[in-house]
Amino acid sequence: MVRVRIPATSANLGAGFDSLGLAVNLYNYVDMEESDGVFISSTDGTWVPTTKENLIYQSAQRLYDECGKKLCGLRIIQQNNIPMTRGLGSSSACIVGGLAAANQMLGNPLGLDDMVGLASDIEGHPDNTTPALLGGIVTAVLEEGKVFWVKQEVHSALRLIAVIPDFKLSTEMARQVLPEKVSHMDARYNLSRAALFSASLLQGKYENIRIAVEDRLHQPYRMKLIHHAQEVFARAYALGAYGVYISGAGPTMMAIVDGGDAGFVSSLRSYLGELQLDGWKIEELSIDNDGTKVETIS
Ligand code: HSE
Repeated sequence: MVRVRIPATSANLGAGFDSLGLAVNLYNYVDMEESDGVFISSTDGTWVPTTKENLIYQSAQRLYDECGKKLCGLRIIQQNNIPMTRGLGSSSACIVGGLAAANQMLGNPLGLDDMVGLASDIEGHPDNTTPALLGGIVTAVLEEGKVFWVKQEVHSALRLIAVIPDFKLSTEMARQVLPEKVSHMDARYNLSRAALFSASLLQGKYENIRIAVEDRLHQPYRMKLIHHAQEVFARAYALGAYGVYISGAGPTMMAIVDGGDAGFVSSLRSYLGELQLDGWKIEELSIDNDGTKVETIS
């Protein structure tokens, strides 16, 4: 049996729409072995598809196909800690989990670039799948089906505070609200900020982050799909966040805060209480530099 640990991801990071993403220390686990049937279960009570339609199964099947290997069936046990359809890379975790487990079971025929490419091909967004595989902060460009990427480790005491609403928002819907065209001025606005974000994070120039996460390509449109988003952003800034942005396609909002700021989370939690958002959750996270880890457990 192979066990895979896959981190959640937070894509876009404000201005880096479809190009920047990072991994955080919230993990899904996938146990997998070959079998003569399809046996899929979850240990955490979440409903998961138990047929070959299961995304982990499909991703493993795809890797077998790429390698010209026949797959009769799989036993899969999922442990899902990443909330689904919330902008924290739960689909990427399934895809990367299935690919990494299958690759290990076949003796690792695919190298890193192949895995990055295959994951992106299945998911469509390398800014989510690539950090799930590699960890750290990733810059990824998809060009004619090939992913050009750089992973950089982030060594800082920053915390990422995820405010997770109690409703789902599909990536499809969150992309439908985006305009087909943007102005030259807006494109320039984002380009400069996306570049500023990575450099500032890696150099420790956190005072730049507030400007760097500002964006004109997706957040203004997606904010309208997330009720109370404006208030949460404003309160997080009032409480001293370096930056706040919509994680991936949303609806999760991520606040980047100083590692030593002990009161931030309790104050934000009280605020959600004031707004009567009792079903919303807060996760205190940090950046994961390891990416997906695979081990053979029996
Ligand atoms: N960059 C993608 C988006 C992430 O914002 O739509 C979702 O997978």
